[in-house]
Amino acid sequence: MPGLMATREEYGPSQPLKGARIAGSLHMTIQTAVLIETLQALGADIFEWPNGETANMILDDGGDATLLILLGADAEKDPSILDNPSNEEETALFDTIKRRLAKQPNWYSTVKANIKGVTEETTTGVLRLYQRQKAGTLPFPAINVNDSVTKSKFDNKYGCKESLVDGIRRGTDVMMAGKIALVAGYGDVGKGSASSLRGAGARVMVTEIDPICALQAAMDGFEVVTMDEGAPRADIVITATGNKDVLTVDHMKSLKDMAIVGNIGHFDNEIQVEALKNFKWANVKDQVDMITFPDGKRMLLLSQGRLLNLGNATGHPSFVMSASFTNQTLAQIELWTRGDQYGNEVYVLPKHLDEKVAKLHLDKVGAQLSTLSEEQADYIGVSVEGPFKTDQYRY
Ligand code: NAI
Repeated sequence: MPGLMATREEYGPSQPLKGARIAGSLHMTIQTAVLIETLQALGADIFEWPNGETANMILDDGGDATLLILLGADAEKDPSILDNPSNEEETALFDTIKRRLAKQPNWYSTVKANIKGVTEETTTGVLRLYQRQKAGTLPFPAINVNDSVTKSKFDNKYGCKESLVDGIRRGTDVMMAGKIALVAGYGDVGKGSASSLRGAGARVMVTEIDPICALQAAMDGFEVVTMDEGAPRADIVITATGNKDVLTVDHMKSLKDMAIVGNIGHFDNEIQVEALKNFKWANVKDQVDMITFPDGKRMLLLSQGRLLNLGNATGHPSFVMSASFTNQTLAQIELWTRGDQYGNEVYVLPKHLDEKVAKLHLDKVGAQLSTLSEEQADYIGVSVEGPFKTDQYRY
């Protein structure tokens, strides 16, 4: 993880995170462990405190820690918001909050008041933050790490390109070449996923609701179909949208016998897993279930509809997570040391830091960077050291 190692070297001596108590909700992988060690090496305390102290920073992936704190604080004022959970996850979350409030009635508002900022890793969590910003209910500054170019255009895309097929193979040992696969969503995760399946020899179809992404998929050589049309033809269906009810029970009933279904988006509600509870389940092995429909057709569901690249495999490789987590670390330093210069809005890291993260990873892949002459830099209107693109540039 060259970015994290370089960050430790550069910032370790000055301890910029001294005094920061960082809490978060992240997938626990070996790469996350290296992130935690890095934050500690820069002076931070991580995750739980026995002596009544609470977090003063959040480092989130999907927005769950932020949601817990803010929902808990809202529930202190209006406990009735916890009355009607809509699924198992919400039931568990609401119960956690109720238990805490029974013991410490002001705990969530105390934590909320202490938080100086949140740095958010992924698309879905960022979406939640922007919704709060719009509603005027974001109580602290946030840095959207996901939209650093060196995060979403690398982790979401190249990370899933490695880890999607890895998860399907470890879960099923199926021969991928020659199979027909269907990927729902052609954003960054969908692009990596479709490419991953194609690389393994599958013929890949894509569904999209956004005409720009649909056109990209078509011009990348994928057949763009609706789920109604694609599902009955597919051997493998993967959701990558961050949306809900993308693969419905009716779609699943229309699949071929023994089709493989999994999600690499955010939540298990991309696939209507709750509704599958009415059918016969057999656990084939850890994180692989076979569901039999009333007509006798069977379906293999990976990771119960949760992220299959983390459930059936070990997530993304360390190299790409190094880029993501270097962004996280720089964002934590920025909010902890200069948070008072930010309002309660969602920000992205400045482009020179994004370029810095990329630069820290070039050596490892043997890439030699060219350098502009002063004249060339003047000609294209940038400085020799960068930033090399405007904020509008799309990569
Ligand atoms: P994105 O916004 O770039 O792409 C999502 C795409 O899905 C969009 O193009 C959108 O138009 C499309 N979409 C939405 N509803 C749809 C529907 N009903 N049918 C077909 N297409 C639909 O988001 P990104 O970055 O690709 O992330 C997608 C999800 O994956 C998010 O929930 C994100 O948090 C998660 N994620 C998962 C990772 C993993 O390792 N498993 C890594 C990074 C992100």
